Amino acid sequence: MDKEKMIKFTKEYVYNELHNESSGHDWYHIARVTFMARTIAIEEHADEFICEMAALLHDIADEKLNESEEAGLQKVITWLNSIGTDASTIQRIISIISTMSFKGGGQPKMTSLEGQVVQDADRLDAIGAIGIARTFAYAGSKGELIYDPELKPRINMTKEEYRKGRSSAINHFYEKLLTLKEKMNTGYAKQLAEERHRLMEQYLDDFFNEWKTGNE
Ligand code: ADP
Ligand code: NI
Repeated sequence: MDKEKMIKFTKEYVYNELHNESSGHDWYHIARVTFMARTIAIEEHADEFICEMAALLHDIADEKLNESEEAGLQKVITWLNSIGTDASTIQRIISIISTMSFKGGGQPKMTSLEGQVVQDADRLDAIGAIGIARTFAYAGSKGELIYDPELKPRINMTKEEYRKGRSSAINHFYEKLLTLKEKMNTGYAKQLAEERHRLMEQYLDDFFNEWKTGNE
């Protein structure tokens, strides 16, 4: 099968798997990240096919949507085998997907250029106007408040604390989103991140200016 067909079939497969997901991993997140990954890949002279395939499949293996991380990765491998992907391409895609997630922030830097590109594309979708919307949607889906002054932001969390501990949408900005600008791998993503970062800072300023309960 040629690469164009593999991408087309993979798009259909991922669409069917994720179009009903409402916790921030919906199909349009995938579509935006895939388009961004392609744009950055061209700018940075990375392998476009690997970037596009890894971006399309990156949330299929998410541990939140599967029984375990291993089960999720196996699902991706099964799919890639079913469309006749060669072993070394599967290895490159799996290596990206298995190491790109945030999980508290303490992950080592991505080793391949393609991994750096896809991780940047995913992170750009977590910040700026879209990132703000996704944060409140995710918090709502987990029953978290938009803001709780009693809960202080957590820093230097372990992966378990990041997933399990109680937080709020506003705290998530301090626990993750405002740290992402400095973590961008590629020059192109760093540039885009600047404006999105400023927008979040402005948003938080406005949020706290409007937050008045009489107890401040
Ligand atoms: P990652 O791929 O970095 O592990 P997730 O898949 O956990 O990120 O996050 C999906 C979306 O929900 C992202 O926009 C992320 O910033 C947001 N998000 C993750 N955890 C929280 C949280 N505790 N509260 C609010 N938003 C969150
Ligand atoms: Ni994602």
